Amino acid sequence: MKVNIPLKKVVDTSYDITIDTLPKLHFDTKVAIVTNDTVSTLHLEYLLSKVSAKELHVITLKDGEQYKNQESIDEILNAMFDNRFNRKSMLIAFGGGVIGDMTGYASSIYQRGIDFIQIPTTLLSQVDASVGGKTGMNNKYGKNLVGAFHQPKAVYIDPFFLTTLPKREFGAGIAEIVKMAVTFNKDFFEYLENEDLHNAEIIQDVIKQAVQTKANVVAQDEKEHGIRAALNYGHTFGHVIENETKYKEYLHGEAVSIGMVMANETAIKMNLMTEKEAFRVKALLQKYNLPTDYKIKDSKSFYETFYLDKKSSDSSITFIIPIGVGDVSITDKVDIGTVMCVLNKFGDS
Ligand SMILES: NC(=O)c1ccc[n+]([C@@H]2O[C@H](COP(=O)([O-])OP(=O)(O)OC[C@H]3O[C@@H](n4cnc5c(N)ncnc54)[C@H](O)[C@@H]3O)[C@@H](O)[C@H]2O)c1
Repeated sequence: MKVNIPLKKVVDTSYDITIDTLPKLHFDTKVAIVTNDTVSTLHLEYLLSKVSAKELHVITLKDGEQYKNQESIDEILNAMFDNRFNRKSMLIAFGGGVIGDMTGYASSIYQRGIDFIQIPTTLLSQVDASVGGKTGMNNKYGKNLVGAFHQPKAVYIDPFFLTTLPKREFGAGIAEIVKMAVTFNKDFFEYLENEDLHNAEIIQDVIKQAVQTKANVVAQDEKEHGIRAALNYGHTFGHVIENETKYKEYLHGEAVSIGMVMANETAIKMNLMTEKEAFRVKALLQKYNLPTDYKIKDSKSFYETFYLDKKSSDSSITFIIPIGVGDVSITDKVDIGTVMCVLNKFGDS
């Protein structure tokens, strides 16, 4: 005997991403702003001048990737239970990608899912982490291994927040922007080459183009069964670098920057990219003080660490290899000899 549950619901989960000065927002429900001590000191007063609600709470977590864990998630959930939040209540993520991912995850599990809004405050979170509904936390097995796809109701990107962002954090965001241009948009890449991204008007336009690029990809493949994986360009190599350096030496975007250079070297070996194109990508990264070199001590162990990547299986490694500038391939058919040759080259540097 079988009982069938017909669950083919088509639900519209589309949402708007506003790139402008933060508007006044009022919510007729209980709301909690989730932030950290750094962002709160710098910008909470401004946010509170813009946001009102039937009941407004603020949950302030400790700042840092090391706090992107179950304890912080419990802190958010407990504050909601203590204040009798119900299924109509809402969270606002106010911070960088760490806060955004955790707030999204907490809202995906609180009473089986409530709404949340993203107000990202780092460049990386404005162009990447706040868009697309990937939420989660780290555990002892690795980064972002626990989580859910849970789309926000809206994203408000106010470039004003970037005025207080440390230089290195700004660069880390640029790396993710370059990633999107190289993989999907040649015109955008040329625009990035020709403009000064420190200019406030230019960066607003760049954020818009990056977000549009990511939105197009997410709209085609929300749950990363295919094309969305291309946004991991530079990450396969980058994750190994982060792992080898124990997440202490490089910001995520910086490791991705080196990872993109390594992926480009692989593309050259596979005749998918010219030396000149790879040089242009490297020059753009260096223009924003991003690292492009890394000394690999043990190529074999570096290769083995690829297997920890979420995209890879026990028997094959998935690589995101650019095809020139503006196109990309997702493949688990890169010959080990080709990759080792690239890794050995970095070993000599
Ligand atoms: N969900 C996704 O699709 C996605 C995509 C990319 C990255 N991520 C995640 O995002 C995280 C990285 O995000 P991040 O780079 O924003 O790091 P982060 O959230 O740690 O922020 C970086 C630092 O900048 C501070 N900060 C934030 N806004 C500031 C401001 N306006 N002025 C001064 N300082 C400010 C933060 O407090 C922190 O110290 C990682 O955990 C990564 O896994 C998620």
